[in-house]
Amino acid sequence: MFPTPSTTNLDVARVYEPAEDSFLFLDLLQEELPFIQERFATVNAPTPLVVEIGLGSGIVTTFFHKNILPDALFIGTDINPYACSISKETSKENGDTRYFDVLRTNLWDGLRPGLVDVLLFNPPYVPDETVPSIENAVKTDDWLDFALLGGSDGMQVTSVVLDRLAEFLNLTRGVAYILFCKRNKPVEVANSMRNRGWIVDMVNERKAGWEVLSIWKFRKVK
Ligand SMILES: C[S@@+](CC[C@H](N)C(=O)[O-])C[C@H]1O[C@@H](n2cnc3c(N)ncnc32)[C@H](O)[C@@H]1O
Repeated sequence: MFPTPSTTNLDVARVYEPAEDSFLFLDLLQEELPFIQERFATVNAPTPLVVEIGLGSGIVTTFFHKNILPDALFIGTDINPYACSISKETSKENGDTRYFDVLRTNLWDGLRPGLVDVLLFNPPYVPDETVPSIENAVKTDDWLDFALLGGSDGMQVTSVVLDRLAEFLNLTRGVAYILFCKRNKPVEVANSMRNRGWIVDMVNERKAGWEVLSIWKFRKVK
């Protein structure tokens, strides 16, 4: 078992505190290590670019950097400015800042299409009437709702990422890992992505309280 990165300086009133979903992600990445290393860590292969959307504390990217592909390039995004700064600190606290950059942006905005080799995304997946507004967050300095509230079916944010996956992922070797809860109807989502030409597999599932969380793997090439 690889150790869980520490997040000593996390301000939990402002940034999502790692929880069952984050830990499911870490466990999954450890299980996927042979697949990822075979795909990306081969001699003479171009250095892979790993992107995490919604860094939060930075625990997932830090774990990946430390244990899965230490020589990859890393970019993380978050809409929450506090998440962006703490992610760098989490990385530093755990010994890694090499090759890691942070963009405060909305989802994919600002990234260059076609270059993402590994996408990691633990989204705001809780169903709610709407997703939070940036205007309101700026006014109230309250960013935590962005971590949880995913609008209709909890899918409003994830759908944007899925709809643009083909634009941003490297289609020959890219792979995306995205977390869902059962209320997101992941089986239906997977089928609709298969109809769009994606290979989709559920790679991990766990009951977390009354929620059932699962992580799904999307790629165009086996
Ligand atoms: C469930 S938290 C996951 C945090 C962290 N990756 C983890 O696993 O512990 C979701 C994260 O997505 C971010 N987020 C929500 N909407 C976003 C958007 N439109 N663009 C970028 N990040 C967003 C939130 O601010 C939050 O940090």
